[in-house]
Amino acid sequence: MKDSMIYRGLTLLGFLTLSHLVLSQSCKLLKGFRVHVLSRWWRKDLKKYGGWAVNNVGITFARKSTPFLSTPDLDKKLSDIVNCNMLSVLQMTRIVLPGMILRKKGVIINLSSEAGSRPYPYKTVYSCTKGFVDYFSRALNAECQRKGVTVQCVMPLLVSTNLTENMKTNILVKTAEDFTREALNTVGLTNRTSGCLSHAIQSYLLDKILPDALLSSSLLPPPDEEDQSKLGETTQPKNQREESQLPAVLRQREKS
Ligand SMILES: NC(=O)c1ccc[n+]([C@@H]2O[C@H](COP(=O)([O-])OP(=O)(O)OC[C@H]3O[C@@H](n4cnc5c(N)ncnc54)[C@H](OP(=O)(O)O)[C@@H]3O)[C@@H](O)[C@H]2O)c1
Repeated sequence: MKDSMIYRGLTLLGFLTLSHLVLSQSCKLLKGFRVHVLSRWWRKDLKKYGGWAVNNVGITFARKSTPFLSTPDLDKKLSDIVNCNMLSVLQMTRIVLPGMILRKKGVIINLSSEAGSRPYPYKTVYSCTKGFVDYFSRALNAECQRKGVTVQCVMPLLVSTNLTENMKTNILVKTAEDFTREALNTVGLTNRTSGCLSHAIQSYLLDKILPDALLSSSLLPPPDEEDQSKLGETTQPKNQREESQLPAVLRQREKS
């Protein structure tokens, strides 16, 4: 009797869990279908938004995946990327937002990246700056929506531009024109998007292949061990190098 009750309870729990999973995945799929497929024909009237601002400016941190301290010219690059990828977004928003709020309409589109959706090791700084754009956009959208202003965050994967050294386009890598056309169709339908169907599917799969637990673990190997061994030579500021030599100097003194 007791056993059969436990069995029934477990069956019900399994059924509820499965239903929840199926429902949430179906909702995701339907929303994605509306945003990326139906939006080609069933578009929002973009004119009704009035003023537009696109925070597009952005730079990468290093051409290849690199451990944080192995990035050449680290000191300057840190200031450059913070100014370009983060501060410019804040300052441009500060400039355009008051007018939009006054007119009770407007759209601000902020370019983040798939790299900003989760912390990516060896793309650490770029990933963080883009994560910043994502959080800023989501919070600001919540603040501004009732004032008639929409803030959308676009998080692409690969688009062939100067930033990606105009790489060859294919089913995964979009041309800038195609990407922009598809991304504009999503305005008014979602406030956070990969921008196009191909990137939305890639983002979904990436999330399954590279779960957060794996990304945050130490299991991912460094991209280039050689870079790490040059660490002290290339990027450590002089005073830090002297500091790291200090224990040896002290040892010598103790001996003498
Ligand atoms: N391409 C991709 O695969 C990809 C993927 C994910 C996210 N994104 C993001 O999408 C946005 C656009 O990137 P993109 O691929 O179009 O790159 P892009 O072709 O290199 O364009 C970047 C833009 O930023 C401007 N810029 C760069 N540094 C600047 C500075 N210090 N001061 C003023 N302007 C500066 C560039 O101006 P100039 O033309 O004068 O150099 C250019 O107009 C970026 O925020 C990027 O992070 C791109």
